[in-house]
Amino acid sequence: MITKEESDKIFRGGIIGREIVFFKTTASTNDKAIEIGRQRENPEGVIVIADSQTHGRGRLGRRWISPPGVNLYFTALLRPSALQKKVPLLPAASAVSIASAIREYAGLNAMIKWPNDILINGKKTGGILVEMTQDKGRTRLLAVGIGLNVNMSQDMLPENIRPHTTSLKMENGNHVDRVKLLGKILDNMEKTYKILLNGNKRALINKWLSLNCTIGKVVTVQNYNRVVSGIADGINDCGELIIRLSSGKIITVSAGDVTILNKN
Ligand code: BTN
Repeated sequence: MITKEESDKIFRGGIIGREIVFFKTTASTNDKAIEIGRQRENPEGVIVIADSQTHGRGRLGRRWISPPGVNLYFTALLRPSALQKKVPLLPAASAVSIASAIREYAGLNAMIKWPNDILINGKKTGGILVEMTQDKGRTRLLAVGIGLNVNMSQDMLPENIRPHTTSLKMENGNHVDRVKLLGKILDNMEKTYKILLNGNKRALINKWLSLNCTIGKVVTVQNYNRVVSGIADGINDCGELIIRLSSGKIITVSAGDVTILNKN
């Protein structure tokens, strides 16, 4: 289990993780982070982490399986007033931070599938859910929620998601120290966040592109009730996916689920 003492050791200076708030269990670290953020004068960089979640949320209204003792569930609080136009690239910056940390720390070939799923050997191991408060007259808060399957075994997963879900341990058999991995992710988030603040979006997008497994592939994107198919041509400065349809028409999509049709 991640203990408060262990999570307290992570901070090494900087913005991201300057305070770590730990819970043994909570409904969702995103909800807890927003609750805490509303009580703070300056919540920028506060990390809320839980050993388990009772109501972990994924994108598109899905459930995020969050058993105790095995994975990472945490939320970084940020303030969009300092970010403005950079907000759309925050999930991409987080995905770069996570995929790089997995590569550096666990030696696994983590890839990013648009929008920001973390895959290993084609199976999902991590995801990012960014939520924003809408309080009138107050600076908005941004909650960057990250879930990463670290030491989870297959029998902890519901059967329907087993074929396309994995964990770091399921991929190479090695137990991973969650606290050290979290420390690495937070170090990387600090770096990518500073790149975003300094306005070098292109550097970040290029890093995202070097880690992604979507661009150049034939894809189908399911976006609420709409399904589009074409070639994934790139991402724009807002992190939206650019798709070239068979008619030659270029469209962009900002959210959805991608199925990659030609995997090679
Ligand atoms: C996805 O669907 O890919 C995003 C999953 C995000 C899960 C994390 S776990 C920590 C934080 N709290 C939540 O309830 N969700 C996010």
